[in-house]
Amino acid sequence: MALMDTIRLKAKMQKKRILLPEGSEERTVQAVALIQAQGIAEVTLLGNTDEILATAQKFNVSLDGVSLVDPEKDADYAAYVDAYYEMRKAKGVTPEIAAKTMKDTKFFAAMMILNGRGDGMVAGAISTTGDTLRPGLQIIKMAKGISVVSSCFIMELPNKAYGDDGMMVFGDCAVNPNPTAEQLAAIAVSSAQTAKCLCGMEPRVAMLSFSTKGSAKHELVDKVVEATRVLHEIAPELIADGELQADAALVSKVGQLKCPGSPVAGKANVLIFPDLQAGNIGYKLVQRLAGAEAIGPICQGFRYPINDLSRGCSVEDIVSVVAITAVQAQNL
Ligand code: ACO
Repeated sequence: MALMDTIRLKAKMQKKRILLPEGSEERTVQAVALIQAQGIAEVTLLGNTDEILATAQKFNVSLDGVSLVDPEKDADYAAYVDAYYEMRKAKGVTPEIAAKTMKDTKFFAAMMILNGRGDGMVAGAISTTGDTLRPGLQIIKMAKGISVVSSCFIMELPNKAYGDDGMMVFGDCAVNPNPTAEQLAAIAVSSAQTAKCLCGMEPRVAMLSFSTKGSAKHELVDKVVEATRVLHEIAPELIADGELQADAALVSKVGQLKCPGSPVAGKANVLIFPDLQAGNIGYKLVQRLAGAEAIGPICQGFRYPINDLSRGCSVEDIVSVVAITAVQAQNL
């Protein structure tokens, strides 16, 4: 069964409450029809109720069983304004700014999740990555023990020799431009968790560099060496090794030659890139040149899951990201 079918099936087994703050957006409303029909999640659409209903009517979508929330008319609006002001006053937020911010459906959705009115959120069909993630960074914050929010892609390769029968997880390819060694270790922990939770993998994590076990000396290599040390310290149970070049991580013969005895070399299924330039370029090269399917970016490390859509997303993409978010919520 294809991975996305498995994830949709998992989502149905324990329905989670997913908030969609771009409630009157046309693809989002059409996705709700599929999510409802397939029983993937319980959904709440946020926004102006008249606009949501007009979009639903335009596409002949029934909103039976779908909750609608208009922040400004919601009974908790004033309480959320106060809570946001308290949370952010040290950062210069005034009561006026808090009142305006809570009218933003993405911020309001984050506050709903924090207050137990939802299990996760999906947005980004009409918002930038920054605008989608910022409410989560400010209000939801990170999961216990995780110092940074990051992202990964699940890569499904036509060549089944790599990873787990062609499946691999690449992180971070979309969020942190230049992580510190500590942040890189946190990205590795989160990517391993995502590999377990969404792919059912037993992660074998390679901390990638242009050096394998001291073959090159450079401050960029030092960062990956230090990240590997921190990773072993914070997650001693995780099968992980570094610093490794990509071929040493992926190809058995090269791994045995350059890094004999490594539990990861030659059989890595989770690749951690040293920065966003490498990660973003890396996943796109594998997608385009090797014909891999790239599922993501999947956000990881939040206390409650939030995922960012591409603005070019299709209705089916939204359904898939809602299913991913629901399964992440099941695994908290
Ligand atoms: N994890 C945890 N907290 C974070 C993170 C993070 N990764 N990034 C920022 N924060 C916190 C900050 O500490 C700050 O907290 P505070 O206000 O309480 O002090 C708050 O979040 C806001 O920080 P900003 O620096 O203002 O972050 P901003 O909101 O501008 O940006 C973002 C965050 C959008 C994730 C930024 O890092 C970014 O633009 N990353 C690159 C995204 C990108 O362009 N990706 C490539 C394209 S995607 C693709 O190709 C699939």
